[in-house]
Amino acid sequence: MSLMLTPAKTVLKPLQIGHIAIDTPLTLAPMAGHSNYALRHLCRELGGCGLVCTELISSSIVKNSRKRALQRFDWRASESPVAVQLFGVEPHIVAEAARVVVDHGADIVDINMGCWVPKIAKKGGGAALLRDVKKATAVVDALVKAVAVPVTVKVRSGFEDGVVTAVPFAVAAESVGAGAVAVHARFAGQEHGGAADWEVIAAVADAVSAMPIIGNGDVHSGPDALRMLQSTACDGVMVGRAALGRPWLFHHIEHYLATGIELPEPSRAERAKIALRHAQLTLETTRLPERVAVLELRGQISKYKLDKPGSARVRNRLVRIETSADLEGILHEVAAASD
Ligand SMILES: Cc1cc2nc3c(=O)[nH]c(=O)nc-3n(C[C@H](O)[C@H](O)[C@H](O)COP(=O)(O)O)c2cc1C
Repeated sequence: MSLMLTPAKTVLKPLQIGHIAIDTPLTLAPMAGHSNYALRHLCRELGGCGLVCTELISSSIVKNSRKRALQRFDWRASESPVAVQLFGVEPHIVAEAARVVVDHGADIVDINMGCWVPKIAKKGGGAALLRDVKKATAVVDALVKAVAVPVTVKVRSGFEDGVVTAVPFAVAAESVGAGAVAVHARFAGQEHGGAADWEVIAAVADAVSAMPIIGNGDVHSGPDALRMLQSTACDGVMVGRAALGRPWLFHHIEHYLATGIELPEPSRAERAKIALRHAQLTLETTRLPERVAVLELRGQISKYKLDKPGSARVRNRLVRIETSADLEGILHEVAAASD
């Protein structure tokens, strides 16, 4: 164990993206339907999360319908630094949208080149941009020229199975001034299945000169994060699904990287208290009608796994809640339980 401590300390160094120094090299992945203000705030509040990113926002909507766009602008100055993720295909449209989100306080503009969802990929956006490195680089170039804040890109290993475009793309993106690239080490067709291939992250980190590379895919714990940092020489670690229902995970990873010690998971009652905070933050800040927010919370709060082992009682109640009072009642009950 002591052999692990020295390298662990050296990997816990700040992440520098352009002029922004991020104290901990751990970032919350953008996740549509989840990484809203409440989750982002909670991950920062519980510690260890250096950078958060919004859910993806359509550049066309930002350009064409300011009213609809503003409904999606849920970030606040208090969570700075925050990256705002845009998707789009046409460089001038993405650049115009970037100017708008920067005017509204985005510290970093991130461009989505990882989404595999047909609605986005069919139009040539998301991961489909990686089919043409030149075109993808033109989007980054336009963005870098349009805004004074750092521009980052979230990519997959590549679009076509087995064709690793993340490497040539990252090199090209660095040459036009990108501030960082996050690599989700799966091909688009893998969606979220199979194991992430961290060798792609290592290849990207090896190919670029100085631009930070953030590794992403299948990090669930401090030891996973350490393995990713050490085996790929990436500069930061992005965590997605494992943080759903576990917003304390960043604090646990940071603690492990600093000490080599894994903290125990919170008890059922502690998890319920954090889930309650999550629900309250959502209800206080959401721009959705309360009923819609409550329906979204059904799934989000179920991720906290609030049942006793072998039981599904709490989950079965959570998936039927209709009002915030129903939800808060269940969470108060579990938070007060002593088992
Ligand atoms: C529900 C869900 C929504 C996601 N939405 C986005 C998104 O809006 N933008 C994006 O770049 N990636 C999105 N992703 C991909 C994640 O950011 C991340 O790359 C992926 O989950 C792999 O990381 P993980 O193994 O830590 O979960 C999403 C993933 C999930 C599970």
